[in-house]
Amino acid sequence: MPQTRVTINAETKLIALLGWPVKHSASPRFHNAALEALGINVTYLAFAVPPERFTEAFFGLRALGAIGANVTVPHKEAACALCDELSPAAKVIEAVNTVKIEKDRMMGYNTDAYGIAAALAEEGLKFKGKNVVILGAGGAARGIITQAVLDGAARLTVANRTITRAEQLVTHVLERCRQLKPAERKHPLPVGTVVPYNDLKVPLRDADILINATSVGLKKDDHLLFDPALISPATFVYDTIYNPAQTRLLIAAKQHGCRKTANGLTMLLHQGARAFELWFDRKAPLQLMRNELFEPSVVSLKHLYL
Ligand code: ATR
Repeated sequence: MPQTRVTINAETKLIALLGWPVKHSASPRFHNAALEALGINVTYLAFAVPPERFTEAFFGLRALGAIGANVTVPHKEAACALCDELSPAAKVIEAVNTVKIEKDRMMGYNTDAYGIAAALAEEGLKFKGKNVVILGAGGAARGIITQAVLDGAARLTVANRTITRAEQLVTHVLERCRQLKPAERKHPLPVGTVVPYNDLKVPLRDADILINATSVGLKKDDHLLFDPALISPATFVYDTIYNPAQTRLLIAAKQHGCRKTANGLTMLLHQGARAFELWFDRKAPLQLMRNELFEPSVVSLKHLYL
């Protein structure tokens, strides 16, 4: 495992990770490895900040001349409310995970959402013009649904246990996207449908992309939310869960002939790489970050792709 050896001196700048808790985060490790490799005199440090002190910590970064920050649970919504400017995705999702401090202004982005688009691109796929089925209507689904809409998905089906929650989410995202300025919204809005898990037969028949954004699969004995025989072999199946690396959904998809499947590690990688690019206006050393992140001691996995 390569050690990070950033030489700290009087000119070293800061990027902070603000969360509560943060001690399990892989971000300091792979960002510092990237900074080190590129010889950038910046260090990335994690801070556990309780919610009642978040505002103080957030604006403290500006006073310290920090480059920016990553923000994680439970502060993403608070960060969104405190930023001076927001990216289109952050506006719609109402959550910020990346901040760039430019001329004393806090610029808020949501690279979690971008991460799913980059994860699809690794498979040569885009949301544009596609039939997309998303499982879940929580925080993770919010980002993914937003990215699918912003990137021009043709049809969007959201399945969730609690139907009203999914309906509210889809309505919210479509409404917010409609309110964006023309320059911020490049594609027509898709048709959005909400269904219970036992009504997925028709949507899955010609789905190009199926994404699990629920927490079901985190536990090895979690049951599948729908009959996997409904999955078409042509569908790309993505699970936002990466630990375990092979969720029951991904195993079932493979068994039903899907040749393209991937887990959430690529989303994690690309949200970080995108943040790096925003802070430094240069390409992130993706391969190096990937090696750091996929190091077996970071997440216990043997196979990323099934
Ligand atoms: P996150 O921020 O990780 O998305 P969340 O907001 O708690 O977490 O959302 C969890 C998602 O997993 C929701 O879609 C939730 O369904 P409900 O909206 O019906 O609660 C889904 N989920 C969690 N446990 C589930 C279970 N046992 N069966 C079905 N869906 C489940």
